[in-house]
Parts: sequence; structure tokens; C-alpha cells
Amino acid sequence: MTVDSLHGPTNLLESGRNQIDFNSLNPDELKSTEMSGFEKVAELDEIPSLGRKSIIINDEIPALLFRVDEAYYCVEDVCSHDGQPLTNGPFDGKEITCPRHGARFDVTSGRACAFPATEPIRVFPVEIRSDGIYVADNES
Ligand code: FES
Repeated sequence: MTVDSLHGPTNLLESGRNQIDFNSLNPDELKSTEMSGFEKVAELDEIPSLGRKSIIINDEIPALLFRVDEAYYCVEDVCSHDGQPLTNGPFDGKEITCPRHGARFDVTSGRACAFPATEPIRVFPVEIRSDGIYVADNES
């Protein structure tokens, strides 16, 4: 069994909700997102494509915000194998590699792609708004 087969397609991106085009929401959806705790974490052109930014969500959760072309992804900055920060791990445009033991995670879903990690890392919903990039803690 591969690590890939351990996790089903039950992530936010595959369900189409990881990234929200804020400007396309109807008033009811807009009200819903404003009440759901999104906080601004970056300016629109702050992060170059294939770049990243370390952020803190809700003043307590370390996270990494990645940009790939016009898409943004946000994952918790903690390896699920042994708690190492992923902060400075190599990033190939889809997967971040843990600098400690080499586990890889898909930043679009949080899925563990390589041992020794077998559990996913958290992903956070991202909104691209006209004035910046917003992220929410989806478990608060
Ligand atoms: S702590 Fe990340 S692979 Fe071990």
C-alpha cells in the first residue's frame, strides 16, 4: 500500500472550497465568509509564484502560505511525522519536503506523499480578495 492510497479525495481543494474567488460570491455567501473568521495574511503581489510566506493564524497556528501562479494554498507549518517545522523545506510547486526526514506533503490537500509521514497536515481555506489574501482557521 502506498501513502497515496491512505487518503481519499476528501479535501477542501477537491471539493472546490480551498480557494474562493471572493468577488464571485453572492451576498449570502459573502456574509457567510465574513462571519467565518478569515484574516488578511498577505498583499496580492507580496509572494512571487512558487514562493511562500510564514504566517500565524489566529495568533497561534504557524502556517505557510504558498503561491503557484495565481493560486494560493495554506498548510500548517508542522510536519505530521515528528512535529518539525516545514518552513524552509524544498517546494516544487506542489509538494513541500520536510527538512528533517524527507516526508513530502501535497500543499493543495495536505496529503502525505512520502514516508516517513503517513498522516496529512492541515490545510486552511484561502480567499483571494481585491485587497489581499485571506486565510481562515477552519476548525475554530
Ligand atoms: S519530522 Fe518531518 S519527516 Fe520526520
